[in-house]
Amino acid sequence: MDRLRPRTLAEYIGQEAVKRELSVYLSAARSRGEALDHMLLTGFPGLGKTTLAQVVANELSVNLKITSGAALERPGDLAAILTTLEDRDILFIDEIHRLPRACEEVLYPAMEDFALDFVVGKGPGARAVRLKLPRFTLIGATTRPGLLSAPLRDRFGIVFKLDFYDEEALTLIVKRSAGILGLSITEEAARLIASRSRGTPRIANRLLRRVRDFAQVHGCNEITSRVAEEALSLMDLDPLGLSPLDRRILETILEKFDGGPVGLSTLATALCEDPQTLEDLHEPYLIRCGLLRRTRKGRVLTERAYAYLKARRNALPF
Ligand code: ADE
Repeated sequence: MDRLRPRTLAEYIGQEAVKRELSVYLSAARSRGEALDHMLLTGFPGLGKTTLAQVVANELSVNLKITSGAALERPGDLAAILTTLEDRDILFIDEIHRLPRACEEVLYPAMEDFALDFVVGKGPGARAVRLKLPRFTLIGATTRPGLLSAPLRDRFGIVFKLDFYDEEALTLIVKRSAGILGLSITEEAARLIASRSRGTPRIANRLLRRVRDFAQVHGCNEITSRVAEEALSLMDLDPLGLSPLDRRILETILEKFDGGPVGLSTLATALCEDPQTLEDLHEPYLIRCGLLRRTRKGRVLTERAYAYLKARRNALPF
């Protein structure tokens, strides 16, 4: 397991509203000795959905089985996992929007009645058999809640949307991770790394590891803001944390499509990138920065994006 991941709710930094609410449900489930209600976690990649599922399992002292909607091809794949669960265990299905329809149908009675329905035999002798399952908790995670069918969505008693983290929370995460990695880091350097992390702990921890490499190679015992600044500029991240591909997206819309509107697949083709990667990993942050807008006709640059691109051309601080 990634040792930077928090193991308890108290160690988990950020998402304060989610934590407050979740801690009530955890206490209630614990004191009743029951399984937690099924829980759906939504939010962009890297915001801590898997981490939160691990925290819940740890807080309730139950086993956690992890799988993904993309890995479950046939109903039998899901049945095989469900039958290994013990009382109050947690089954975590990542990317649950990718679960095939036939598997989804296995989930309905499993979630509602803790039962597995299947047919044995063929033709006139065939009969329906119902196998009892232990009371378990399903935690589903998705970056695209809109793709879930209504019947599946409705079976989750607890739904949380994880938001981007503010700079304060990310700074604390960087300092905590530095401590675990045995690194000495100044407040300013932690803040600098946080500010380039696009509101995402996974990126903050990745940048910290790269800055650590840089410091090590340059023989620095402490990560100061100067070391962090040099390492981050080597990675070509700008003050907003935009990567070269983020910038290429903006420049392509400006230069090839006159600022938009341009459809996602046309844009992806022009960039030689996968549309899903653009939509899931790059657009949300560009939209959050106020640089891009999604309209019915396609993606459009904002006034702020024009100012940003102009400032970059003139090498001005944005
Ligand atoms: N590492 C990654 N995400 C974290 C979080 N939310 N809190 C503490 N450490 C983390």
